Amino acid sequence: MAPNTTDPPNAVELPYPTMRGQLLDWYALAGRSLPWRNISDPYAIWVSEVMLQQTQVKTVLPYYQRWLETFPTVADLAAAPRDRVLKQWEGLGYYSRARNFHRAAQMVVEKCDGQFPVTRSEAIALPGIGRTTAGGILSSAFNLPEAILDGNVKRVLARLIALPKPPAKALNQLWQLSEALIDADNPRDYNQALLDLGATLCRPRQPDCPRCPWTSHCAAFQTQQQDCFPMKSPKIDRPHKQIAVAIVMKGDLMLIDQRPEQGMLGGLWEFPGGKIEAGETAADCAVREVKEEVGLDVETIAALGSVEHAYSHFSVTLNTFICRHLAGEPQTLEVDDVRWVTFDQLQDYAFPVANQKIFPLLEQWLQQSA
Ligand code: ADE
Repeated sequence: MAPNTTDPPNAVELPYPTMRGQLLDWYALAGRSLPWRNISDPYAIWVSEVMLQQTQVKTVLPYYQRWLETFPTVADLAAAPRDRVLKQWEGLGYYSRARNFHRAAQMVVEKCDGQFPVTRSEAIALPGIGRTTAGGILSSAFNLPEAILDGNVKRVLARLIALPKPPAKALNQLWQLSEALIDADNPRDYNQALLDLGATLCRPRQPDCPRCPWTSHCAAFQTQQQDCFPMKSPKIDRPHKQIAVAIVMKGDLMLIDQRPEQGMLGGLWEFPGGKIEAGETAADCAVREVKEEVGLDVETIAALGSVEHAYSHFSVTLNTFICRHLAGEPQTLEVDDVRWVTFDQLQDYAFPVANQKIFPLLEQWLQQSA
């Protein structure tokens, strides 16, 4: 149903104090119990907020626990080698979060004596901390009245005022609303309650309006147009890339390389490979990419198969070949590092999820050809 844009419900004054009370009462009864709540360690809260930036709670939970076992303090994280940090992040995606978090931890240790800053301007000066992450950490760790505006909160607020444009086109207005609503007496619980409202009731599809504490104020609900808000930004087509991947074998060993630090999936390990050019076969591409990236001459000896993976902005097919090493020593021509490893050693390195999908195919091939 198209929204009825003749109503101007976003002009309505909202009764902020009443709404705060209603939300906090609901949270006291129905809020989620999550391990980063009711704690005051800013570092542990920081871990959760960075992981939750683009990832759902249920995915984050096991990573959060493991992370704190591996790096219990900001000093432990700062002192860890980058490879170890990326390995702990493996599978969470958006790896720039891990690289930025690592750098930010080093800055906090070196410049702030290991203490997370207590002002928004200092917090957002750290790599990987935007305004909503700063708000989440400062409100949770120090009970400061700093607003948040993540995807869930944008949806709640867009429905509340029947925002007549996509949230991305109204960020200032939404920030102002989030600031106006925050409970200055209890910003910690208020922000967490708002997040829970978005995640559990004010869901993207089929919101559970009968249970919502804010229905009497919600412009979308009043006109039964919950499904029309938030309005969607125009869809951008996601390109599909055909990639050739080479598993270069030398006896029991296979060659892996580390992607350059700058750029997508920077610092992660993979098998050499790249985009198949027009008019090129996948096998020829695999041979060419090995030469360009690490300077080896190889030939393909078997097609291992292909795997598919969808990233946020594009999807890939990895057409994978077993290759025999013919000549040359590996060089770091277009990569940061290169190693010969056994199949069992692959698990010591952080690989993109798309590459991990190749492992079972490879294991089967190695067993068959043993
Ligand atoms: N998303 C961002 N921060 C969150 C938090 N503290 N709890 C649940 N989901 C979140």
